[in-house]
Amino acid sequence: MQTFDDITNLQSTLSTWRRKGYRIALVPTMGNLHEGHLRLVDAARQHADRVVATIFVNPLQFGPDEDLERYPRTLAEDQRLLTERGCDLLFAPNVDTLYPQGQSALTRVSVPQVSEGLCGTHRPGHFDGVATVVSLLFNLTRPDVACFGEKDFQQLAVIRKLVRDQHMPIDIIGVPIARDHDGLALSSRNHYLDDKARARAGRLHECLLESARRLEQGEPSEQALTKGLQQLEGAGFQPEYLALCDTETLRPINTWQPGSVLLVAARLGSTRLIDNLSFPT
Ligand code: PAJ
Repeated sequence: MQTFDDITNLQSTLSTWRRKGYRIALVPTMGNLHEGHLRLVDAARQHADRVVATIFVNPLQFGPDEDLERYPRTLAEDQRLLTERGCDLLFAPNVDTLYPQGQSALTRVSVPQVSEGLCGTHRPGHFDGVATVVSLLFNLTRPDVACFGEKDFQQLAVIRKLVRDQHMPIDIIGVPIARDHDGLALSSRNHYLDDKARARAGRLHECLLESARRLEQGEPSEQALTKGLQQLEGAGFQPEYLALCDTETLRPINTWQPGSVLLVAARLGSTRLIDNLSFPT
């Protein structure tokens, strides 16, 4: 696998591939890769001839009190994992390469409605930061297909709308959540949990499953969600939201039915965890 931190080498390799008629898949990440990220690489390989991963800890999507500084950076290990998984090219630029004019002068991309509510309420500006960097990466690499995890369900919905609204000729593939043995969705931020918190963290997914069961049994959504929140508090979480939404618009809905998704965000100590469960199809 080749690694580039500059745009010139990246684009000359991509042009060669395009001239050969290769279909190109993009897997954007912030690094510190785990099995969840690597499943995106697997999916990308199924949909394209060449797979390009990116690693960029994007300052635009971190709030002032968030973990930008301490976000784990593990480039050498990430390169090893990507190579093992058959990734063809890694683009790992630094901030000055992507934002040469500085962040305050940068053209921003904002995806309305679907970016509001849920994580958008608790992380103001986060999805504008994501939409801005992802559209920039799409423009730089012009992929045929791009893979994103369903773990960040709202992010996936934001990107689907971005691509639709901007008529970008890119197929967006949503990849199912990779979970640990106790159901906890894999995340780079799980490393922040100490042993005691980690032992408790699996309860997040259990609470989600129990809320889904209640909805399935016909319990009114308001009641089922209130009970779910209480259950989370009882398990030691500080829930931010538990919501039943439409999978595309992410507007709240009242019935657990095809096209609905149950989403949760909760803090365990200082670590913020998210998860979701789509209506089984
Ligand atoms: P990051 O958190 O590194 O995640 C990169 C991709 O991996 C995202 O599409 C995310 O949904 C997916 N992913 C993470 N954990 C996963 C899991 N357990 N199962 C399945 N997929 C998982 O998300 C970002 O980076 C950034 O916001 C980014 C899109 C790169 C823009 O900066």
